[in-house]
Amino acid sequence: MNADAKPSHETLRVRRSPALRGVCRVPGDKSISHRALLFGALCRGTVDISGLGLGGDNASTAAALRALGVVIHVSGASATVEGIGLAGLGEAAGPLDCGNSGTTMRMFCGLLAGRPFPSTLVGDPSLSRRPMGRVAKPLRMMGAQIDGRSDPANPDRLLPPLTIRGGQLQGIDYALPVASAQLKSALVLAGLQARGKTRILEPGLSRDHTERMLRFLGAPIRANGETRQVEVDPTGWNGELKAMPVEVPGDLSSAAFLLVAAAVVPGSDVTVEQVGLNPTRTGVIDVLRAMSAQIEVVETGQAMGEPTGRVRVRWAGPLRATKIAGELALRSIDEIPALAVACALAEGKSELLDLGELRVKESDRIACIARELERAGIAVEQSPEGFTVVGSGGLPPKGGEVKPDRDHRIAMAGAVLGLLSEEETVVPAEDIATSFPTFAELLQGLGANLGR
Ligand code: S3P
Repeated sequence: MNADAKPSHETLRVRRSPALRGVCRVPGDKSISHRALLFGALCRGTVDISGLGLGGDNASTAAALRALGVVIHVSGASATVEGIGLAGLGEAAGPLDCGNSGTTMRMFCGLLAGRPFPSTLVGDPSLSRRPMGRVAKPLRMMGAQIDGRSDPANPDRLLPPLTIRGGQLQGIDYALPVASAQLKSALVLAGLQARGKTRILEPGLSRDHTERMLRFLGAPIRANGETRQVEVDPTGWNGELKAMPVEVPGDLSSAAFLLVAAAVVPGSDVTVEQVGLNPTRTGVIDVLRAMSAQIEVVETGQAMGEPTGRVRVRWAGPLRATKIAGELALRSIDEIPALAVACALAEGKSELLDLGELRVKESDRIACIARELERAGIAVEQSPEGFTVVGSGGLPPKGGEVKPDRDHRIAMAGAVLGLLSEEETVVPAEDIATSFPTFAELLQGLGANLGR
């Protein structure tokens, strides 16, 4: 990970590929890595992190923490964070640059809402279009002052840059309008600094890495996945977490591209080892199974309360169309670009519903997926909250130029689709490093026909 790394203007050239075969590991989970860095800073003492995510988003979190006075050394996938506790954080000399990372911006809103100094959070053009009102509203109710830009197209929508004037917060009871781990985590971080209890209720259970890691580090938090409630009560807590080593499992969201590739390229047999298997994240496995992919999952351990293991996918003939909706949609939210490729090659019409959140990710992912699949000759119909895909039944998609709108997951999905195309597929690849800098090498190592 290199916070100063500038995106290289590279292009991936993907050609029809033979069977993909091999065993590999993917870089550390992006969501867990953000939390390891941020919660590490709130510990008293040194926190050693292994398996840290190597992407640009995690680098943004590390850089923002450094700007607040936290000493962080990163060497490849190993990092040490010199934890200074909540009280040790100090005012940054300038704006905190969250880059492309929504998780960084929203979690820092919660963190900084309770700090007695002003902060400004900025992001790249994509992050600057993402809605922040969902996090500002409850934090204002808790007593923070948060200002931003209003969206010219929708004046009720608050956009970055954000300025936060933090101070003494009061706990609240709050029902989230949308299942969002970023929002939930922001409120947990604010709740840890508030007077009294903060109770959070989610409409669906979003990823629960924050709850799991904070419980491990001794934070005053209780969570119940079944009722989707989280309670934070810092009364009598000294504001410091217990320093302990953090092991980050591989990112299942990155592995998803390799798993889908193995499920669609004839003859493939791919195993990804040491990958996170948190049940709030494993929708991609359930969807691929429902599409009749042959998948073996073996849980091999636990890291900080997170189950880990290996996932093997063997090609077993054309996939069947499927329906993704409700809880399954939430559990595979970041994997929809990869799964859309599986649907594009399956037999029959797939329905992907309850995905309105995809409209406000790094790009409007529904529109981008539709555009890319249509370019490849696949019929897609969009609705405000989802889309349908009429699969080709394994017939090769068209090649051509992928236009990922600077969205890392759209770029990778375009590359995976290109593995089956007769013609060359050209993918602008500079943004893939946001989450999965080793994507091309790993895919090539498994036998994919890739050039630059
Ligand atoms: C994340 C939460 C999800 C997810 C994002 C990472 C996190 O976003 O899509 O890639 O690490 O908390 P939302 O909280 O907006 O659902």
